[in-house]
Amino acid sequence: MSDRRVLVNLRGLLTPDPARAWAVDRIPDAALALEGGRVAWLGRKEDLPAAWADAPKVDGGGAWATPGFVDPHTHLLFGGNRSGEFNRRLHGATYQQIAAEGGGIRETVRATRGATVHDLVASGEERLRAFRERGVVHLECKTGYGLELEAESRLTAAYAELQQRGWSLDVTLLPAHDLAPEFGGDAEANACAVAEDWLPELVKRHPGVARFCDVFVETGVYTAEQGRRILGAGKRLGLIPRVHADELSWTGGAELAAELGAASADHLMFCSEAGMKAMAAADVTPVLLPATTLFLGMRDWAPARKMIEAGCRVALATDFNPGSCPCVDPLTILRLGCLQLRMTFEEAFTALTLHPARSLRRDDLGHLHPGARAQVLLWDVEEMLELVYWVGEPYRPRFLTR
Ligand code: NIG
Ligand code: FE
Repeated sequence: MSDRRVLVNLRGLLTPDPARAWAVDRIPDAALALEGGRVAWLGRKEDLPAAWADAPKVDGGGAWATPGFVDPHTHLLFGGNRSGEFNRRLHGATYQQIAAEGGGIRETVRATRGATVHDLVASGEERLRAFRERGVVHLECKTGYGLELEAESRLTAAYAELQQRGWSLDVTLLPAHDLAPEFGGDAEANACAVAEDWLPELVKRHPGVARFCDVFVETGVYTAEQGRRILGAGKRLGLIPRVHADELSWTGGAELAAELGAASADHLMFCSEAGMKAMAAADVTPVLLPATTLFLGMRDWAPARKMIEAGCRVALATDFNPGSCPCVDPLTILRLGCLQLRMTFEEAFTALTLHPARSLRRDDLGHLHPGARAQVLLWDVEEMLELVYWVGEPYRPRFLTR
């Protein structure tokens, strides 16, 4: 049976144009023709091709239609939460101080090592539902709270189970998220174990589950040289690199991402101008995480404008994790993109749709041009800009399809 249908009665349709870096199509009184779970045609309703005249119509209820949001940086699966640490920070302790005392990421590692695959899947699914109801239709999800082979393997198995249950997500192996307590601060030996033992074993145990690998290049964690070795090993296993880069200090992470042809360099609050140029030249997507800057109480917002001027296709993400950003809300990111990173509404919208999809090598997500997956959000607002303007409003989209 044919599933041809046309979405009509739309106030308008807003979508990035995948053929152009920052172009957003704004089509008033639009229609959207769908077939086989994909977009077949978009345009003004009055221009609907005759071939679609008899197709069943779906009433958009006068809403704005947009593609679903794509979140290209989350740490979805972990045990426990860190509200106690947050309270300590409100009383003056710093993120780095807490980490140096064995808290921070290490605290989550302890809780995650104690979680079963079943526990991880159950909490993961709850979080995925929260993302979903806010309009996120696809996410990148990292391992990284295991910091040893068996716990990293359970995290990967939990992601595989979530994929099997139909959640649309890309998995990134991040066993180099921090130094594992077992290595007593010996980053060299830890990097060697990640590159030579853990990554190959994770790929062997869970074939086809992960597409990307990542490393936290940061002062006191892994150096750029150690990152190069870990990501090089990942590449030989068929994993595309992403890099936690220049988050708390400049460490050459953006430059490393460009050198390796990484899909993305993420965070980048302390990115150099040379790093920006290198990312633009190598088509590395800078993934900026403004809610992390906010939640850590930092003053150094990532230089989004300079990156755009340098020719980068900037993306935005939540960085959802229990320590530096327990946020599942794309609207918060959209608002911070406009209000703190000084992006226009169209830029921030593109940075939450097309550019993250591109950084995940998913050309059928993040837009509503022909060939795109029919993941359509319907927003009951007069103008899409209201999503940012009514700054605390908890807007929720309606969905055309699951
Ligand atoms: O992306 N930078 C490293 N990882 C996380 C924070 C992890 C945590 O605090 O649990 C981040 O900010
Ligand atoms: Fe992160």
